[in-house]
Amino acid sequence: MNIRIGPGSKMSPLGYETSGGGGINQTRWLIDKVKKSPTTVRTFDVVSNVIKAADPDQPSLVNTLAKELVSCLHLISEQTLPLVELKRPEKAEELVTTAASDFIELANLIKSPKMDADFVDFIVDVMLNALSLHSEENYRHSAIVTFRSAAIAKEMKIPEKEVRWLKTAGALHDIGKLGVSERILSRKGINENEKQLIDQHLVIGVYLLQKISWLKHVVIIVRHHHANPLFDSLFKPEILGEELYSLAQILRAVDILDGLTSDRSYKGEKEYRRFDGRAIKTFTMGEAFEALQEEECREDVIVALRDVVKNGATYIRNIGSFFPQREVKFILPGIEYLIEKEYPSASFKMPSA
Ligand SMILES: [Fe+2]
Ligand SMILES: [Fe+2]
Repeated sequence: MNIRIGPGSKMSPLGYETSGGGGINQTRWLIDKVKKSPTTVRTFDVVSNVIKAADPDQPSLVNTLAKELVSCLHLISEQTLPLVELKRPEKAEELVTTAASDFIELANLIKSPKMDADFVDFIVDVMLNALSLHSEENYRHSAIVTFRSAAIAKEMKIPEKEVRWLKTAGALHDIGKLGVSERILSRKGINENEKQLIDQHLVIGVYLLQKISWLKHVVIIVRHHHANPLFDSLFKPEILGEELYSLAQILRAVDILDGLTSDRSYKGEKEYRRFDGRAIKTFTMGEAFEALQEEECREDVIVALRDVVKNGATYIRNIGSFFPQREVKFILPGIEYLIEKEYPSASFKMPSA
């Protein structure tokens, strides 16, 4: 038994240096941490399961954690279906968020003191793994949103620190869909109750991420990824600050574009999907850009997004200039999808480490 993270390990699962020591010590350290922390018995159960499941010869701790999170949430989301049918979505939300927050507490507990900045990447990795296990389609969507958002940020010369917030927000913006049963996410045609449940992903996602204090800027961007400046009185630069408002505007424009143009799962019958209460056909790029204007997306963001879509092959070829290798690994399924569907002539080379 060996957990490859914490003060007892030399190297974290993503290859970050941590302080030295042996396997059994780090397990003890982890258990001590759990015992000393004012957490629930349930969190301890989850931690115990992860410790039991962790095996150096088996999939990495990231995968182990991701699977733990998925099974925890899967169980809960299965229970939410009848609750929604009973018109008690608030109870469903409570169940899901409790399970999710247990996981986040677990993630906080195993954080090594030496990993501060890079721990964000570790959490993103775990969550994206969980998302891909839960819904391949949503992982693809998040990967594309992350790639295009970062490309816009490059186009708009946004400072590096903010680009990092934007990338993390792109990767995690729909993480709340972990709390929605994949039976609903993958259904062709959904009813009003199910739509209501899918809409809950915003609340669930924010609830999940706000537990991690160093993600506070990311949470603000995620919270507003479906906001419309016309109807949402909090979605204003005066309230969020110019930087975060701009980042949220970028994310929502890219999110809307991919939602409209891709063959998303929870659409209606025969290539129709729901958007803003209407049943509409999957959009062409031209129609989608018209819709972005109707949606009050910011003009400078739309201009940059047009360039990013038009010159997608170039952005893919030069991906190393705005994504380090480690991050490219996170978004690879989205890049592969874009090459296959939109830019067949694009060549892709993994940037060097
Ligand atoms: Fe969303
Ligand atoms: Fe999305």
